[in-house]
Amino acid sequence: MRVLVIGGGAREHALVARLAAEPDIGALVCAPGNPGIARQAKVAIIDPGNLDAVSELTERERIDFTIVGPELPLSLGIADRFAADGRLLFGPTAAAARLESSKAFAKALMSRHGIPTARFQTCETPDEAMATIASREFGFPVVLKADGLAAGKGVVIADDRSSAEAAIRETMRDRKFGAAGDRLVVEECLSGPEVSFFAISDGSRAVPIGTAQDHKRIFDGDRGPNTGGMGAFAPSPLVDGELEARIMQEIVDPVIAGMAAEGHAFRGFLYAGLMLTPNGPKVIEFNVRLGDPEAQVVLPLVAEPLLPLLFAAASGRLAQPRVRIGRGALVGVVLASRGYPESSESGRPISGIEAAEAVAGVDLYHAGTAMRGGQLVTAGGRVLTIVGRGADYGEAIARAYDGASRIAFDGMQYRRDIGRKALKFEV
Ligand code: AMP
Ligand code: GLY
Repeated sequence: MRVLVIGGGAREHALVARLAAEPDIGALVCAPGNPGIARQAKVAIIDPGNLDAVSELTERERIDFTIVGPELPLSLGIADRFAADGRLLFGPTAAAARLESSKAFAKALMSRHGIPTARFQTCETPDEAMATIASREFGFPVVLKADGLAAGKGVVIADDRSSAEAAIRETMRDRKFGAAGDRLVVEECLSGPEVSFFAISDGSRAVPIGTAQDHKRIFDGDRGPNTGGMGAFAPSPLVDGELEARIMQEIVDPVIAGMAAEGHAFRGFLYAGLMLTPNGPKVIEFNVRLGDPEAQVVLPLVAEPLLPLLFAAASGRLAQPRVRIGRGALVGVVLASRGYPESSESGRPISGIEAAEAVAGVDLYHAGTAMRGGQLVTAGGRVLTIVGRGADYGEAIARAYDGASRIAFDGMQYRRDIGRKALKFEV
């Protein structure tokens, strides 16, 4: 089978690395890919948001099956376009991708189908949002979320009325996130540990493929601004078999059934961001794709070929009741550029790739890297994910940091505490 992977980050590198080793792969193409991906697949430098260019590429490369990494092409309707052209693709339609691209849509769907999530109010105008805050219906702290895609920056946890009002002004009046902030979801602040839960769905049923815990803040000890993710570990020790069954029954299955019943069958990776509250697991957000860096630690634990699974799901024929998950732990550390997440430098020479790859139990996934005159250089905020695999969390952490210590580039920053909170648990 000739397979195309859309995207060019470390998540897509992890997908490509998995697929490249599988028996049914005839050809593997990735667009736009990156220098790490180029060692395992043919790369085609096109903009994944340009659906005409993607369509031409599938034609030219005689692609049989396409897998989409990032959310943007999905929210732009790449699945709708491929379906209209009679081409097979794994990923939800634009209408189904609203689970991620519109928080108001996701919240309303959850309330129609009784899926546990924070109590909320969707506000269409700044006055309505101000009145909701003034009513103290949700108390303080209160959570304010821009409705649309805001690159992970659209959520504010406001400790008091004046900071909530400031956030409403910035989002709805000053339009800091553009049209994404035309509607605002105001919701109660929940507390508890956060876990990421991943499933594959064919539109009518879903199977879990693993769990992880992300480290979203830039600095050790979960301090500083939010980022796309500075590291992750898998599996989450907080989700045992019993809790997994509960999450499937109370959250994943009703979402898939609800989406199908409303005419937007969801085919793709479903990523549920959950908070484990004293009253049970509750949904913080849905994403319609794998996480980054979560994919880099979740995919290697899937203990059976991925391609047949994704192909069956894309065809609406996911027959198997479960997917085998391997033993052991994975820890992924993100190496980022100076200035990330506010800004980032580029063009700094990177050394030590081969030395890091030589460490037993270590894998490297490229994100913001580029080749310049035969030299690998930085090209963005998150540069590389270094993944360590071990029999337990401690071994995985030691390996990931051994790998990371071999890499150097000017301005390199990374957290030193990825996976530490898992240490007190057995895998
Ligand atoms: P989101 O972009 O929806 O994932 O939100 C970003 C982060 O804000 C989450 O990872 C949580 O840490 C936090 N958050 C979002 N919603 C809530 C909530 N209702 N209660 C507490 N924290 C939240
Ligand atoms: N790491 C969080 C995300 O991919 O959304």
